[in-house]
Amino acid sequence: MYTVVLLIGRSKARALEHSFQVPYPGELSVSKPLRIVMVTSECVPYAKSGGLADVVGALPLALKNLGHEVIVVMPKYRSIKTDKFNIRPFLSPMGVWMGDTEEWCAVHKTKSSEGASVYFIESIKYFDRDDLYHDSEFNDFLDNPRRFAFLSRAALQLCKEIGFKPDIVHAHDWQAALAPAYLKVWHWDDPMLGDVASFLTIHNIGYQGVYDASHFDNIGLQWGNFTSEKLEDHGKVNFLKGGIHYADMVNTVSPTYADETRTPEMAHGLAPYLNNKGQNYVGILNGVDYAEWSPDVDALIPANFSQDDLSGKKSCKRELQKRFSLQEDEDIPLVGVVSRLAHQKGLDLLSNAIESILDNMFVQFVLLGSGDKDLERFFGHLPVRYPGRAGCFIGYSNELAHWIEAGADMFLMPSRYEPCGLNQIYSLKYGTLPVVRATGGLVDTVQQYDEISGSGTGFKFQEASAHAIYYSVGWAVSTYYDRRDHWDILVQNAMAQRFSWDDSAKEYEQAYRQAIKNKRAL
Ligand code: ADP
Ligand code: GLC
Repeated sequence: MYTVVLLIGRSKARALEHSFQVPYPGELSVSKPLRIVMVTSECVPYAKSGGLADVVGALPLALKNLGHEVIVVMPKYRSIKTDKFNIRPFLSPMGVWMGDTEEWCAVHKTKSSEGASVYFIESIKYFDRDDLYHDSEFNDFLDNPRRFAFLSRAALQLCKEIGFKPDIVHAHDWQAALAPAYLKVWHWDDPMLGDVASFLTIHNIGYQGVYDASHFDNIGLQWGNFTSEKLEDHGKVNFLKGGIHYADMVNTVSPTYADETRTPEMAHGLAPYLNNKGQNYVGILNGVDYAEWSPDVDALIPANFSQDDLSGKKSCKRELQKRFSLQEDEDIPLVGVVSRLAHQKGLDLLSNAIESILDNMFVQFVLLGSGDKDLERFFGHLPVRYPGRAGCFIGYSNELAHWIEAGADMFLMPSRYEPCGLNQIYSLKYGTLPVVRATGGLVDTVQQYDEISGSGTGFKFQEASAHAIYYSVGWAVSTYYDRRDHWDILVQNAMAQRFSWDDSAKEYEQAYRQAIKNKRAL
């Protein structure tokens, strides 16, 4: 390997920081460390609306531990706390050619304590807003297509500015899905980016970035790309569909969801395009950042505990009961929910079951979430109707999410579909038994309780209905009261589970290498 320093950045120091490494011919052996740029709209601890942020927060470190170099590029939203995370101005101005005009932005940078460099694209016009995707009324910003097209373009431009020649551009979800398209359509003859392979992760096929065709003019791709196998979808422009077409390799976040999304029922219209990818569409299960989500080290919960000593879990339950003004009684089973209140999560089904559950079972219930206004009103009112038995916090609170994982006895996820789901994996670690609908990643991560042998890690049901939720919660509650020996075994089994990022990162590495092969074969 020899190194060529490209002085295309704004200063020599910056160019030196990411020297452009040119491989000797034939040097690209299987073991060569990879350079990866992740393009994302969210990443913990900076900005988060869901599990995507957890994944992009943790995967780079696991890849780094395998010897790879990863940088992350994301927007600099108004809510990001620059001082807290030591985010500093890095490059200004940076011109980004959008096909119709050049737009200007600045770049800020921080280095996470463990090492992945994170670059923030600052654009007052596009990202200086309170929320990530929508206004306070939950209406999507009208310029979302242009905002996220700009993110993808800016990420590629940044690589050029700092002399970071990636082996892989890894785009996450529809917000970054145009990055593979830009690589192939715009950069095919670029000496630096022309041979770079692209990789798309679908975290949720329910969100595709579909817009009126008039927006096609704003994303800087020639109309020749507006065809039914590329970016056109029933007369509209579909970002995710475009990403699937242009990416050299596509994955989703669990093997079962990969299978499900090959079928018309579950793929929101994209099954034929995923099937067209053949072996180049795979499922890789998410891991968990156990430095954040493990009861023995969790700094946010009232008391720590472990498999060997569960006394701290009792304190967590008591404190949770206190916090929500529930009857303080360690013997009443407590059911917890932490979720976006979205159709995907099946909480409208729960709203049709929760009264029967609270009327007929001796249980307590706590929900943390926000989203759908009707569901916010319904669950927000529940504590008034069931004082001392139901608690609710409408909003976002990371601390409370940890408290519920730690203090509840069961964790309920009645999802209509679930690409992976992280909360059920967290809850396993906290000995909080998941009660889940058997779909997507919930199938892959929860083992069904067997009443004969006592084996398993939780309770799964098939049907997306209030009825099925009622009976499954009932099954878990009766196990809690009547088969306590089994309950205790299930808790031990659950806490012994490990969904490590180290294993998932190895699968990503393999998939990246396949993407590189695919790109070369073109
Ligand atoms: P999704 O990404 O579909 O929302 P996941 O289970 O993958 O579902 O991840 C959700 C993540 O967001 C978890 O880390 C969960 O704790 C967190 N989360 C969801 N809603 C809230 C909330 N209201 N407050 C705090 N954290 C939340
Ligand atoms: C999505 C999915 C969720 C998954 C997360 C992280 O938001 O809804 O199931 O765990 O992305 O991949």
